Order: sequence, then C-alpha cells, then structure tokens
Amino acid sequence: MKIVVIIPTYNEKDNTPRMIEALARVFSDIKPHKMHLLYIDGNSPDGTADVIRKYQKKYDWLHVIVETKKEGLGKAYAKGMAYAMQELRADWLLEFDGDFQHPPESISELVKYTTSYDYILGSRYIKGGSIPKEWSLERKLLSVLGNLVARVLLILPNIHDVTGGFKLSRVKGFMDQFDFDKLLSKSFAYKIHLLYYMVQKGARVIEIPFIFGNRTSGESKIIKNELFETLRVIFLLQQRIVKFGVTGFIGYLVNAIFLQLLSSSGELLAWLVSTELAIISNFTINNLWTFRSEKISGVGKLLFKFLQFNLTSSGGLIIQSVLGFVVVTYLNVPRQLALPIIIGFIVLPYNYFMYTKVIWKEKAPNQK
Ligand code: GDD
Ligand code: MN
Repeated sequence: MKIVVIIPTYNEKDNTPRMIEALARVFSDIKPHKMHLLYIDGNSPDGTADVIRKYQKKYDWLHVIVETKKEGLGKAYAKGMAYAMQELRADWLLEFDGDFQHPPESISELVKYTTSYDYILGSRYIKGGSIPKEWSLERKLLSVLGNLVARVLLILPNIHDVTGGFKLSRVKGFMDQFDFDKLLSKSFAYKIHLLYYMVQKGARVIEIPFIFGNRTSGESKIIKNELFETLRVIFLLQQRIVKFGVTGFIGYLVNAIFLQLLSSSGELLAWLVSTELAIISNFTINNLWTFRSEKISGVGKLLFKFLQFNLTSSGGLIIQSVLGFVVVTYLNVPRQLALPIIIGFIVLPYNYFMYTKVIWKEKAPNQK
C-alpha cells in the first residue's frame, strides 16, 4: 500500500528541514507500506520550496508542488490530493500540518488501522487526545465550541473531532470518487466537506487520540472568519434537509388552508382533497427545489414518480396510524406526546429516506 503524506505550507522554512528528517525516521519504521511525502507550497516568500527541493536530492520519496500563489488550505489540498492519486498512485492520503502541531510519531499509530478502516481520524477530543494547554481560554473555547456546533449541525454524534486536520483517507472507493471541482471551500472549512462526504459514502471511521502540540516556529494562518466559513459549508451540506423541512411545512399549510376552505363540502371530502393537495404541493416543490439536481421530467416519468410518491406518503400515514394506535393503547403514551415523536423520529426520517433513496435517487455519474 502506498501512503502519501500531504503537507501544505506557507512560510514554514524553519520547520521544513526538521519535518523532513523527522518523517524520514518515521517512514523507515513503517513497514510494509510505501511512504511518500508531498508538499504543496503556496509560493512562500520565505523560500520554503527551495528548502524542500534541496532535500529531494537526498530522498526519492519527497515531492513538491509549488502553487503560483497562496490560495487557501482547501485549494492546496485539492491540488495535492489529485496529484497524489493520479501521479503518485496513492492508496491512502494522509493530511498533515507542517508546523509540528501534529506529532510525526503519531503517523505510525494511524497507519496501523488501514486494514479494517477507511477513514482514520486523529482526534483531539477523545480520551488521550488534547489541545495545547498554552492556548488562551478564548482560543480553547473557540476550538471546542466550533467543533461541537459542527458536530451537532452535521448530526455526527459518533465523531468527536470533526474539525481536526490530521487524518488518513482510503483512496479506492472513496477519495477517488470525490469531485474536487465541487469542493465547497477554498480554506480550512474544506475539511468539514471531506469528512461529511466520507461518512455519507459509508466509510468505516475510527478516531485515534493525538496531542495537538503548540506551534513553536512561524505563525498560524487560520483566519478570523473561519467560523462563518465553516457555518456556510455546513449550511450547504445540509441544504437538502433544510429545504425538505421548508417544503414539508408548506405542505402542512396547504393541508390546513384547504381543509378549512373545503369544510362546507363535507368532512371526508375536505380531508381527502386537502391531503392530496398537500401531497401534490410536496411533490412539486421537492421536485423543482429540494431535489432540483435529480429533477424528474417528461409526462410518463412524472406520472410514474407521482404515483410512487403517493404510495410513499400513504406508507407514512399507515406507519404513523399503526404506531400511534399501538403506543397509545398498549404503552399508555399520551396522544399529544406520541404524535410529534412519531412524526419527528419515524415519519420524517422515513420520508427523507424514501425521497433520497427511491424517488429522487441520485443518478450514477455515467447516467447523468
Ligand atoms: N499551501 C498553503 N496554502 N498552505 C497553507 C495555507 C495556504 O493557504 N494555509 C495554511 N497552510 C499550511 C501551513 O503552513 C501549515 O503547514 C498547515 O497548512 C496548517 O496551517 P496552520 O496555519 O498551522 O493552521 P492551524 O494550526 O491554525 O490549524 C490547524 O488546526 C485546525 C484545527 O484546530 C490545521 O490542522 C487545521 O486544518 C485544523 O482545522
Ligand atoms: Mn498549525
């Protein structure tokens, strides 16, 4: 297996020679993997790239790409990962910092898990891991809270460090299928996108604790508005769920309004017609907005999918009624408690699942 360690650098001249030598020692202990190191330098004015080039004479596993200008961490990784996969034929990509905040010795620890996992995360927020104790209270809070908010909004309760920058990703079936033109951020927040992608792809994930060291030389390039950038990426990733929620709410309004308007034409008819109108509203808005990228068109296809959508919706109603009946009669759950719980935890997830996996199922890239 070939593992390519990717280090983006910007003005890391002092750290680089020590880093290359430290990795040379680590690499020689990692058998039977082939270890390579790829630097992506943002055309550092301090001459980091020249230092790396000098070491290329000594180590044949050392590679460097020099960008025309510094364009952000996400951009640097997008270039580096593409190069590592296409030119260096990497089986694994290891994201690593060039400033010794990620301990080189921890690499061998991560590598141990490549036989049974696809995504191996260095984690600061599990037992054995930590953030620098030298950090100010403000910096610590920002890091802990930022990570917590991201975990909650991305609904990733099982991953404790979602913003960390030290991780190992499997190429085959995972990173080789990622479209880097669609990477949502040019800066640090790209990490959230890749993490979310790996989890969605069904990667087997493990977290390994590591001690996030203090920077001893040079300075951090993380920018102040990174928090907003992270929130922007999270919103884009969760857009579908937000739109799905809004569409459902509009459907509810349609249902309620027509139920009122049609009340004079008889109770049963009012319920039937207003419910069907809500279904039509949901189908139309989801098709044109929520699942725009998988839009259904053509009369035949639309009719077929609309029928399927009606069946799915009826399925939801049946699940809701049966479950409601059972928990109220046999478990004595109060009715007004059972309804929101069943809708929130069963019916909505069921609908979302059916929409994404059946009705607006994503087309394979070659079918698009
Ligand atoms: N080429 C390139 N271009 N390299 C960059 C750029 C850029 O725009 N920005 C930063 N780098 C390089 C740095 O030289 C360093 O080697 C590495 O990327 C990490 O940058 P730092 O500036 O040291 O980041 P940090 O320590 O604030 O952030 C680290 O921790 C975060 C979590 O707290 C990184 O690991 C982040 O990825 C992580 O999210
Ligand atoms: Mn750093």
